[in-house]
Amino acid sequence: MRVLITGGCGFIGSNFIRYFNSKHPYYKILNVDKLTYAGNLENLKGIERKGNYHFVRADISSASVMRRIFDKFRPDAVINFAAETHVDRSILSPAPFIKTNVVGVGVLLNLSLKYHVKKFLQISTDEVYGSILHGSFREDSPLDPSSPYAASKAAADMLVISYYKTHGLPVLITRSSNNYGPYQFPEKLIPLVILNAMNNKKVPVYGDGMNIRDWLYVEDNCEAIDLVFHEGKIGEIYNIGGENELTNLYVVKYIIKLLGKSESLITFVKDRPGHDRRYSLSLSKIRRQIGWHPKVSFETGLKRTIEWYRKNQRWLKNAQSGEYRNFYKQYYSKLGLKEF
Ligand code: NAD
Ligand code: TYD
Repeated sequence: MRVLITGGCGFIGSNFIRYFNSKHPYYKILNVDKLTYAGNLENLKGIERKGNYHFVRADISSASVMRRIFDKFRPDAVINFAAETHVDRSILSPAPFIKTNVVGVGVLLNLSLKYHVKKFLQISTDEVYGSILHGSFREDSPLDPSSPYAASKAAADMLVISYYKTHGLPVLITRSSNNYGPYQFPEKLIPLVILNAMNNKKVPVYGDGMNIRDWLYVEDNCEAIDLVFHEGKIGEIYNIGGENELTNLYVVKYIIKLLGKSESLITFVKDRPGHDRRYSLSLSKIRRQIGWHPKVSFETGLKRTIEWYRKNQRWLKNAQSGEYRNFYKQYYSKLGLKEF
């Protein structure tokens, strides 16, 4: 099978390519990634030597470039991880989110139809459902995104479904909760807290710290995506969660404790605009239809993650390029947080 994977140099994509390649060593993989600030070739070190893996630097929203790639590679299947993914960035500058997450998905869908792709798997997020105070979202719950990031992902999901309904393109969608684990860019909560606390720097907690996220270890997500890819029913959506619903403050305190640091590092800062209070997914469909459930406990996953960041200080230094610092300077000054 020839599988075109987009966004494979990011956090989940790189973990997935390693997982997928070890499970299906005879599949041919073409990884197409624009290498934005979040994409890093180092994330796939070692794999580039395998004859069945190839990488091309390209932007999924460029129709002409992507057409040449489809024409040459002739994929049987497409798995789309490529996206702009950070909510805070989408508040500051939404345009790249609309371009990659909506226009880019439109380009991939068009080409998948033209080149008779047999499976198109869109990697989506629980954020498309918005916030829920009680109960959990099912796959047929209405979409109610809050941030420009979530809205762009919801738009993409709608486009994907429309290609199934209108053209019969064989599509699948996974919507997962917050992932954590090795290779996550240190702009997201868990790696940011590990990084700051390790260096005895302040740890910013938005609002009252009582927002709830459901934490999913990235390897569990990779296993679920692989199963949905092979066994999912065409035209269907599958929620993937970690069954670890925790407040941000609990997560932050837990990391600080595991690192042996002081809670005095915690600094409550102005809340994120439009900040969703709680995310929660019902996993009954994926359990029933695919037989999947999350395996890695939060304690085990977090210990593994901290260990990985401890051992990969060079990776962290590279990730914190000038672009990273510029973004935070801008973002924190917008929030009135001069001390960060
Ligand atoms: P990431 O930000 O770490 O990586 C995104 C990757 O996409 C990068 O390698 C980047 O270079 C690439 N990319 C961005 N724009 C591109 C473009 N125009 N063309 C080609 N490549 C481009 O993201 P992630 O956390 O690995 O997320 C992967 C996918 O999973 C995304 O679609 C995201 O919406 C979804 N998701 C993420 C989470 C999470 O907790 N991280 C949860 C649910 C869903
Ligand atoms: P994040 O990792 O950005 O993921 P998402 O917003 O997509 O769920 O944030 C996770 C939670 O942590 C979210 O409620 C916002 C909060 N948060 C902080 O309190 N401080 C921070 O510095 C960051 C980055 C996030």
